[in-house]
Amino acid sequence: MSLAPRRPIRELPDELISQIAAGEVIDRPAAVVRELVDNALDAGATQITVRLVAGGVRSLLVEDDGIGIPADQLTLALRRHATSKIGSLHDLESVATMGFRGEALAAIASVADVSIASRTAEAPHAFRLDARSGELQPAARAQGTSVEVRELFFATPARRKFLKTDATELAHALEAVRRHALVRPDVAFAVWHEGRLIEQWRRADPTQRLRDVLGDEFIESSRAIDIAAGPLRVHGRIGLPEASRSRADQQYAYVNGRYVRDRLIGHGARSAYEDVLHGTRQPVWVLFVDIDPLRVDVNVHPTKIEVRFRDGREVHQAVRRAVEAALALSRHTPVESDGAPSLGAPAGPAPWSVGGLPDTGATALAAAESSDARASLVAGTRPADGPPSEASRWAWNGATASQTRLGLAEVALLHTGEGRPSWGIAPAATQAATQAVSSPSSGDEASVAWPLGRALAQLAGAYILAENAQGLVVVDMHAAHERIVYERLKAAHGHGPVPSQPLLIPATFAATPIEVALAEAQADTLATLGLDVAPLSPGVLAVRSRPAALPDADPVALARSVLAELGDVDASRLVQRARDDLLATMACHGAVRANRPLTLPEMNALLRDMERTERADQCNHGRPTWRQVTLRELDQLFLRGR
Ligand SMILES: Nc1ncnc2c1ncn2[C@@H]1O[C@H](COP(=O)(O)OP(=O)(O)OP(=O)(O)O)[C@@H](O)[C@H]1O
Ligand SMILES: [Mg+2]
Repeated sequence: MSLAPRRPIRELPDELISQIAAGEVIDRPAAVVRELVDNALDAGATQITVRLVAGGVRSLLVEDDGIGIPADQLTLALRRHATSKIGSLHDLESVATMGFRGEALAAIASVADVSIASRTAEAPHAFRLDARSGELQPAARAQGTSVEVRELFFATPARRKFLKTDATELAHALEAVRRHALVRPDVAFAVWHEGRLIEQWRRADPTQRLRDVLGDEFIESSRAIDIAAGPLRVHGRIGLPEASRSRADQQYAYVNGRYVRDRLIGHGARSAYEDVLHGTRQPVWVLFVDIDPLRVDVNVHPTKIEVRFRDGREVHQAVRRAVEAALALSRHTPVESDGAPSLGAPAGPAPWSVGGLPDTGATALAAAESSDARASLVAGTRPADGPPSEASRWAWNGATASQTRLGLAEVALLHTGEGRPSWGIAPAATQAATQAVSSPSSGDEASVAWPLGRALAQLAGAYILAENAQGLVVVDMHAAHERIVYERLKAAHGHGPVPSQPLLIPATFAATPIEVALAEAQADTLATLGLDVAPLSPGVLAVRSRPAALPDADPVALARSVLAELGDVDASRLVQRARDDLLATMACHGAVRANRPLTLPEMNALLRDMERTERADQCNHGRPTWRQVTLRELDQLFLRGR
C-alpha cells in the first residue's frame, strides 16, 4: 500500500468553509424554505408567503410581516455566526427561538444568489441588499422582510445533481411549510408555485388548523390529547387505529414548537398502539411536547431536527401514557369534538365507561374462560384449543350481572380471586339485570340507546347483528371477545413475574460491553421477564432460563433483543409488553370460536362487555371488531328516497 504524499496543513478559504458548512444545513429547496420560515416566525410574523419557481430550485421567495431588519444590520445578517437571538451560553441553554446558530442566511448565500429586502417599523422605506455584490439600495415594501433565493447550488453543480424533479422538490418544500403550519395556527401561510396559489392556510384555532392542513378525515378519525405530567405537557391529536397508514408519513412530533424527528417520542407513541395495531401499520399523529427549555438540548444537529432530552424516559413515558389514554376510550364513548382524555380523572364514571347507560352487566361473559386461561398461564401451558368446558361456558345463567357499575379495575379485582370468579351480587339485582338483557322488548328505547344496540341474530356463526339508533351493527364475535378476554387477562395479570423455565444447557454468547453492563444492572427486570442472563466470563453472557411460554424461542436471540430494548426504553414498559404478548396469545385461545351458536342474552352480554372494555373497537391485531351500517346506507342500498 502506498501512502498518499503529505500535503501541508492550510486554512481553508472562507467561501469553501461556508460551502462545507452549508452542506450540513441546506441540501434542497425545502431546507431553504424551512430556514426562512423559521426566521420569519422568530421575527413575529403573522402572515408568511412562500413563492417558488421550478420547485424552488430556480427561485424561492419568502415574505413576512415581522419586525424587519434595520438597514445597517442587513450585511451582518448574512455573515456566519451572526445572530440577534442568543448572546451567551446561558441564552443557548434556554433558547426559545427557532434559530440561534446565526448560520442559515450565510449558508444559503454561499450556495445561491440571495437578496434581502427589509423594513422595520421606524424606517421610512425598505432597503434591499444583494448578497453577491454587497450593494444596498432603497426599495419599496411594507414592514417585514423578503428573502429571495435564486439558482440554488448554481456554484456547486455536484450538489445540484442530487436534486430530484421539480415536482418532488416542490412536494418537499410544501411539506416544510406544512410542518410549520401545524404548530403555528396563529400565523397565516400561503404557498405559490409559478404564479399559482397552491396552498393557503388562514389563521385558525389549533384544531381547525389541523383540519385545514391534514384534512377532515384526519380530524374525524383522531382524538385530541392533552396531558400534563410534571415539567411536561403532551398535547395534539392521535389517529385511531383504523386511520393507520402503510407509511409513517403522517407522524408529526414537535418539541417546544420545533418539528423534530425523535426516536423517543416516536417509540413512546408507537408503543401505545402495540395492542391495537398490526406491526406493519403506521399510526398518524400530531404530538406537541412542551417542556422546560432547560430540560432539552436543541443544539445537537445542524438542522435542529434532533433534540436531546435530559430525561428521555420521562418524555417516553409521558407520550406513551397520553396516547394510551386516548386510545383506551372506545369509539362510541362520547367525546366532545375537542375533548381530550384526562389522566387522573375526577371521581365519577371511568373514562371508558359509557355514561348514563343501564349497566346490565354480563361482565361474566368469558369470565370462566379467562380464568381457564389464567390457570394455564400459571401452569405455563396454553389453554386447550376448542370449545371451553361446560362449566366455563359463558357463565351466563345465574350470577352474571351487577347493577353497580363494574369498572375494569373492579373486574380485575374480582378476577384475581382464586380459581373461579366471584361476583358477590345480590340475587335480586342479578335477576333484574338478567332480565334487562335477556328480554329486551323490541323497540325498547333503552336498548336501542346502547351504543352497540340490541342483538337481533347471529350470522354465519361468526357475526352478531344488532340494532342501535343509527341502524345496523355487525360485530365480529371472535375478534370482539378476544379483545375482552385479553383486556381482562391484562388487568388480572398486570404485575406478577412471567413464569420461566430453566435451560438444560445454558446458552452462551459473546456480548458487547454494553450488553454485559445491562445484563448486570437489569438482572431483576430480566428475571421478571422469565429470563436469567448473567456474565459467565469477561465478554460472555449465559442464558440460563427463558419464559416458559416461549419454549421454541432461541434463547440467545431473545436475550439479545431484550437487552437491546432495555438499553433503549424504560424497563417497566418492556416487561409489560412481553407480558402482553403472552396474554394476547392466550386470549386468542380463550376467546369464543366462530361457529358457536349464541343465545340472544349471550350476544347482548357480549355487546355490553364491549361497551365497557378499553380498546374494544379493535381486536388484538388491529382489525375492527364491529362496523356500523347506518339506516342511510341501507336506504341507499335499496335506492330508497331517490
Ligand atoms: N425574516 C427575518 N426578519 C427579521 N430578522 C431576520 C429575518 N431573517 C433573519 N433575520 C435576522 O438575521 C439574523 C441571521 O439569520 P440566520 O437565519 O442566518 O441566523 P439565526 O436565525 O439567528 O440562526 P440559525 O442559523 O439557527 O437560523 C437573525 O438572527 C435575525 O436577526
Ligand atoms: Mg435562522
